[in-house]
Amino acid sequence: MTSPVPRPVRTIALLNQKGGVGKTTTTTNLAAAIAEAGRRVLVIDLDPQAHLTLHLGIEPAGPTVYDLLIDPELPSEACVVEARPNLDLVPSVVDLAAAETELAAVPDRNRLLQRRLAALSSRYEFVLFDCPPSLGLLTLNALCAAREIFVPMQAHFLALQGVGKLLETVGLVSRSVNPTLRVTGIVLCMHEQQTTHHREVVADLDAFFEQARGTDVPWSTCRVLRPAIRRNIKLAEAPSYGKTIFDYEPWCPGAVDYRKLAERVVGDWDAMLARRERTVEITTVSDAVAGTTSSRGAGAGAAN
Ligand SMILES: Nc1ncnc2c1ncn2[C@@H]1O[C@H](COP(=O)(O)OP(=O)(O)O)[C@@H](O)[C@H]1O
Ligand SMILES: [Mg+2]
Repeated sequence: MTSPVPRPVRTIALLNQKGGVGKTTTTTNLAAAIAEAGRRVLVIDLDPQAHLTLHLGIEPAGPTVYDLLIDPELPSEACVVEARPNLDLVPSVVDLAAAETELAAVPDRNRLLQRRLAALSSRYEFVLFDCPPSLGLLTLNALCAAREIFVPMQAHFLALQGVGKLLETVGLVSRSVNPTLRVTGIVLCMHEQQTTHHREVVADLDAFFEQARGTDVPWSTCRVLRPAIRRNIKLAEAPSYGKTIFDYEPWCPGAVDYRKLAERVVGDWDAMLARRERTVEITTVSDAVAGTTSSRGAGAGAAN
């Protein structure tokens, strides 16, 4: 008999030090699509601008991510709001801007979120962190709590240089605070497939990550995720109504793209879990066989 293996949670930080690249749009709509597919998702708004919270149409009445970080006595569950079926949120508020200063003297302050989530994350299959456009304390907390990074970006030559810098930073962070952290996906946002420039930048990105395969950099398994998210005005309109794209225009190109992206994110994860379970089964069976052989051996030795 194999003992049940605890089901791991896929934890992803949406990170890019540049603002306006599609982090919040991707966190909201990717999470909403995963939830729509019947999987439990938690999203955490780490941006003092609270755009993710607004995008989901939530006005926090109770504790927020600020309280989660500042008040160790407060139960983590108290900071969770149900945003949609299968989709929970830890909301943000402008107070969060003060958190960086208030937490500056707290020992081990980069791991506060990781510790606070330990009690929560087993209720979910996916946890997504919407990071602010800076690499301060709030972002470092996300990078300590997550196993993976997705980088939302636009396919411009200058954006490509920015990603190079971001990857270097992730390399440093992963060496110092979270050695398990990996950049696993690039999400192309506001994409214009028909422009030659976009196509060239995507080809460069693909080639760059292909070269990194098998090396020991934290982006060695990273892929440019497909589909790219097309530029679609509906995606820009939905937040002002406090709606996800699936509440607002469920069959517009933006909704179709995020739904397909979610299928890939969920599908890759399920495939990884299935491989992991097979490996555990094979190891358990081979351990059992080895046990039988060694006990026979021991028996034979005793008989001699
Ligand atoms: N695919 C898209 N098509 C059109 N507008 C988009 C798309 N993705 C994002 N936007 C808009 O671009 C702006 C910046 O996106 P946002 O997700 O807030 O970026 P970030 O969180 O990185 O600052 C927002 O106004 C958003 O509505
Ligand atoms: Mg944002």
